[in-house]
Amino acid sequence: MAPKVCSSPFLKPFFLKTPIGVSSPRRQRRHTLPASEFRNLTPQDAISVFEIEREAFVSVSGECPLTLDEVLVFLSQCPELSLGWFEEGQLVAFIIGSGWGKEKLAQEAMTTHVPDSPTVHIHVLSVHRHCRQQGKGSVLLWRYLQYLRCLPGLHRALLICEEFLVPFYLKAGFKDKGTSAIAVGTLSFREMEYQLRGLAYARRNSGC
Ligand SMILES: CC(C)(COP(=O)(O)OP(=O)(O)OC[C@H]1O[C@@H](n2cnc3c(N)ncnc32)[C@H](O)[C@@H]1OP(=O)(O)O)[C@@H](O)C(=O)NCCC(=O)NCCS
Repeated sequence: MAPKVCSSPFLKPFFLKTPIGVSSPRRQRRHTLPASEFRNLTPQDAISVFEIEREAFVSVSGECPLTLDEVLVFLSQCPELSLGWFEEGQLVAFIIGSGWGKEKLAQEAMTTHVPDSPTVHIHVLSVHRHCRQQGKGSVLLWRYLQYLRCLPGLHRALLICEEFLVPFYLKAGFKDKGTSAIAVGTLSFREMEYQLRGLAYARRNSGC
């Protein structure tokens, strides 16, 4: 059955496959961890998040988009704007977002959550290094954007990325808005935008 994600601001966990050990609807008690589960993250997930993030970014650019403290802050302030993909209970990919109230992302967006705003700032999408190039980043991003569509009051998602990832986000439906005002050290970024509203057909078919 399709998951219902709109009845509360939080995403109810749902599974991609029947959890191992649950063979019939009458045997609901789960004895093993689900094969695949998507859910909002909590502060308890911060260490797993940061381990994936550190491996993904520190070795490449020396900088993480979010420090462990910032991960903890965002997962406390706006867990409903995060999404984790767990396999057998292990985090394999995640997205962390927060609210943002201005037209374009500015430096302060990196550390700020603006509640009840129409824009989600996607701070980070990261896939565990053992699971990359298998479609997981694209699938998680797609699920996240479908989920955001169902949250009331949200109109768009913004993110910044390095030039080499622009094709990845274009493929996911983002538009390139040009060079971002944000710079980290010598790194410059493109700002990418995804419209969550105005796609009536997509919304009608998204289960909202
Ligand atoms: C970027 C990332 C999220 C993509 O997730 P993924 O599961 O590996 O990607 P998918 O398998 O869904 O899609 C693969 C596509 O991603 C793009 N891509 C992924 N990594 C890339 C890289 N290092 N350089 C260029 N393109 C890349 C390509 O378009 C690729 O398509 P191709 O296979 O046709 O070349 C993942 O590689 C990752 O976590 N990287 C480290 C952290 C990061 O850079 N995050 C994004 C910025 S917040």
